Amino acid sequence: MNKTRRKILKTATSFTAGLGVGVAAIPFIRSLAPARSAPSEVIEFPKLEPGQIVTAATSWGLPLTILRRSTTMLDGLTENPSWLQDPMSATSEQPEFAKNALRSLNPETFVAVPLCTHLHCTVAFQAPGQYSFDQHCETFGCFHCPCHGSVFDLAGRVWRNQPATTNLIVPPHEYIDANTIKIDFGFQYS
Ligand code: FES
Repeated sequence: MNKTRRKILKTATSFTAGLGVGVAAIPFIRSLAPARSAPSEVIEFPKLEPGQIVTAATSWGLPLTILRRSTTMLDGLTENPSWLQDPMSATSEQPEFAKNALRSLNPETFVAVPLCTHLHCTVAFQAPGQYSFDQHCETFGCFHCPCHGSVFDLAGRVWRNQPATTNLIVPPHEYIDANTIKIDFGFQYS
């Protein structure tokens, strides 16, 4: 039986607030394969301004990040850079609509599970100007894993030669309206 829960995300965090820092170093030790059958959840999130991000645990135990990408952030995704492991996201975990550079239904809105695909630490959002160790990250923003250093762009695409070898997971989802999505947690992680 398909069981749908509802969750309302209330806290939108400005990109200057260093989202995820407080939990960034905590490895995600729970099994990444949701145990319940055919789970889905309706997520309501606040209207986000460009550059804002919201993250929360879902009822199914997996965190979810929703980022509204600014024009600058989108500019950083339009190339097909050689430094990415899987730039068109051909082999990573995602629905068909995410097998491209933007990896989203709505170009501005990126929805992902913010867990590193190496050993599942929570990745930290780095807004443009925050992460000076990498020029692309500093210019356009990125996600950085504090455990072993893997770097992902703002479509969740991992750099080459990192401990993580696949992109951040985009869960199957659909929009109910502009600020409500339905997530299907019935997928399996590899
Ligand atoms: S858990 Fe992220 S690089 Fe190892």
